[in-house]
Order: sequence, then structure tokens, then C-alpha cells
Amino acid sequence: MSATVIVGAQWGDEGKGKITDILAETADAVVRYQGGSNAGHTVVVDGDEFKLHLIPSGILHEEALCIMASGTIIDPICMRDEIEALRERGVSCNNLRVSVNAHVIMPYHRLLDGLQEEARGHDSIGTTRRGIGPTYTDKTSRMPESIRMVDLLDDSRLRSLIEAQLAEKNVIIEHLYGGEPVTVDAVFDEIAPTLDVIRPHIADVRDDIRRVLEEGHLVLEGAQGTFLDLDYGTYPFVTSSHPVAGGACLGTGVGPTEIDEVIAIVKAYTTRVGAGSFPTELNDEAGERLRSRGYEFGTTTGRPRRCGWLDGVALRTASELNSATSIAITKLDVLDAEETIKIAVAYEINGKRYERMPENLDMLDHATPIYEEMPGWQQPLSEMSSPDEMPTEAWEYVQRIATLAECDIWGISVGPARAQTIML
Ligand code: GDP
Ligand code: IMO
Ligand code: MG
Repeated sequence: MSATVIVGAQWGDEGKGKITDILAETADAVVRYQGGSNAGHTVVVDGDEFKLHLIPSGILHEEALCIMASGTIIDPICMRDEIEALRERGVSCNNLRVSVNAHVIMPYHRLLDGLQEEARGHDSIGTTRRGIGPTYTDKTSRMPESIRMVDLLDDSRLRSLIEAQLAEKNVIIEHLYGGEPVTVDAVFDEIAPTLDVIRPHIADVRDDIRRVLEEGHLVLEGAQGTFLDLDYGTYPFVTSSHPVAGGACLGTGVGPTEIDEVIAIVKAYTTRVGAGSFPTELNDEAGERLRSRGYEFGTTTGRPRRCGWLDGVALRTASELNSATSIAITKLDVLDAEETIKIAVAYEINGKRYERMPENLDMLDHATPIYEEMPGWQQPLSEMSSPDEMPTEAWEYVQRIATLAECDIWGISVGPARAQTIML
């Protein structure tokens, strides 16, 4: 009956996990549509923090199906560890299904990701080294020996595919990067112990998605963010999949006219992990304040996130690229103590004013943000639960963000917990 896409409007870590978990309460299925274990989505329940890399952020709601759709890529070791860790904390994961067609991240994809990054030297992307690029590369190059989840159901087939893949990978590992070749036995022995845990979850998921689409509420959970998209992000400093809302259609097989709602998740300021342009980045005390108040350290890699003011130019562009119907503003409380808050409303690049990201994203390196200043509210928001309680300055900041995005506000998050959300 309805389908909602959750999409990151910036460079990832906007708080997609928290908002997805809230929507999952009334959803019949939560489906991750792209990416793999490069994601790190945080859900906080009754003070308990869950960091999810692969498993959809609806997993704590056992009545909702949680699906890794065919557009995602799965690291079996990460998946096994995540399922086991959740079970230890009382989450059954019985509602988890993984598409037979999702491609598999193997240990040598992770190895290659690291070797490629090292070989790039100063030009490295700063990937999560989770094997994302090498696995999507194999998928798109249509290697017959690429491994999909269905192949994990048959030991001898799996072994022969590993053997076939390694015949090529070892040449690259050894001769291009000077690394140690990998043996079939070593890889198989690493993957084999994960299979008992994973196999019960491997399934045809298309019928489930279709049924929920017809009878219930489907939430399609994006990973990463709009400007990490392979086509619409700051290439080459991007991921190898399609986080934009259109990627939800590709990754799940849901057609574009069946999407009812696209909620773009917007952090009240900007962060980025890894290399690439970032026009509103602050390399000063203000940036340091955002990092420490927002605890801006990567969920997956622990790296400090680069921090800066909200980029309204990026937001406008993201809203258009995703056909956002509303925005959820997160981490507003992180700005509680600021005297003055800045928002970039345009860029100046080579003497010309831009209100949207230039299509040639290389130009971003030369962008000077044009800021608008707004007064801060200088009081804590984290206990507030309705817009009426919000100080005028905070409400005005939120309204300004909605005007820049040209869409309605779905809700405002003022803390990591479920209850710390002001619904509109
Ligand atoms: P995701 O990748 O988009 O799901 O976001 P992450 O989980 O990587 O990063 C968001 C971080 O901010 C997590 O630690 C969340 O628990 C936390 N968080 C989410 N919403 C809020 C909020 O409104 N205020 C504060 N202070 N923290 C939040
Ligand atoms: P969530 O879902 C923030 C970044 C990496 C690097 C680039 C490419 O938690 O928002 P990759 O490993 O994908 O090849 O790395 O993308 N990146 C993320 N940044 N949040 C994420 O996920 C990210 N996933 C990848 O830091 O710059
Ligand atoms: Mg994250």
C-alpha cells in the first residue's frame, strides 16, 4: 500500500538508522537497497546502542521483515558476526532475509580494497576497506565466477567459484600490488564456518517485497548519502553503489511510480569521512566543537569525521536528486551551545554564484561558501518533544532548512534515542 525511501542527503552518517528504526515500528518490511558493510547505522533503544553494518535498522522490530535486497553486497563474516552479536543481546534475527542475488564480499575483496588504497597514496579515497569497490567491480564486469548469495548454498560450487576468482585475483594481488597470493583453502576455511548461520536467511525476496508493497508499508533504507553516489556524488571520492532514492528502485525491483514518500535525512550541520571536496568544512575550533558535541567518529572505522556548517547548496541539490517529499532534521541538539549558526546558501566559484551544486563536481574544490548567519538558541533541546517547546531561534533555523530543501519537515531529532524526536 505504501513505500517510503530513507535517503541520506549529505555524505552519510546523517542518522538514517535512527529514523529507519522509528519507521520500522509500523512497517511490514525494512529493506536495505544498496551498499554493504561500509555502512554503520546506529539505533539506540532504552539506552542500549546497536551499531548495524549490514542488517537493516528495522531488525529490533521482530514483526517487520528485514531484507537485504539484490542491490546490496554481503560480507558473510560480517553478517555472521552481526547476527550472533544481536542474538546475544536477545534479538532473534528470525525476520532477516537476504536476496539470493546479492553479491558476496570475499576476504580477497577486502584485501584488494586495502591494496588499492595504499597504491593510490596521497590520492586515496579513504574507503572503509570493506571490499566495496572490488566487489561491485566484479558484479558490473559480469565475471561468470562472481559469487552471489545463492552460491553459498552449495559447498562444492562455492569452492570452485573461489578457485576461479582467485586465478585472476592472485595475479593482481601478486604482480600488480606485490602482495601475498591467497589460497583457496584459506578462503574457504574462513567462509565455511559462517554458512550454518547465514544459510537459513538466504531467500527469494522479490515476492516478499511485492506482497508488502501491495498489502502493507515498505521502508527502503539507504546507506551512505547522496554525495557518495557513484553517479551523482563527488567522483571519484564516492562509494561504488547508488545511495540516491533512485537506487532504491534499482536495488529492490520496486518501480519508481510505486514510491510514495522519500524522506531525506539531513544532519543539522555537515560531516564527511574520507577524502573529497567539502566546501563548508571547518578546520578550526568551531569544527572541533561540532566533532566533540556530535561525537563525530566513524561508526565503521572509528575515524574522526570532518565537520562543517550546513551546506544549503548541497541540500537543495540533494532534495532535487532524490525527489524528496520531506526532510528529517537530525542532531539539532549538537548546535545547542552555538551563539551564531551559519548556513551556506550559495557558492562562489570563479566569480560566479551557484545555488545548486555544479554538475562538474570537480569545481567544488574551488567553491567559496556564501554564508547566512542565524542566532543560536543556547539552551538544551534534548528533552523537548513538541515544536511548541522549541525556542524561536531553533524553530527559525529548522524552517530555513526546510525552505532550502523546498519540502516539508517530517520530524526533528534532538538526541540519539527514539523518544528524542519531535514529530511534525
Ligand atoms: P547513519 O549512518 O546515517 O545511520 O548515522 P550514524 O549512526 O553513522 O551516525 C549518527 C550518530 O548520531 C549515531 O551515533 C546516532 O546515535 C547519533 N544520533 C542520531 N540522531 C541524533 C540526534 O538527533 N542527536 C544526537 N546528539 N545524536 C544523534
Ligand atoms: P553510512 O551508511 C559515511 C565513505 C568512505 C569513503 C567513501 C568510499 O553509515 O552513512 P567505500 O568503503 O564505500 O568504498 O568508501 O565512502 N563511506 C561512508 N561515509 N557513512 C557511510 O555509511 C559510508 N560508507 C562509505 O568513508 O569516503
Ligand atoms: Mg553511519
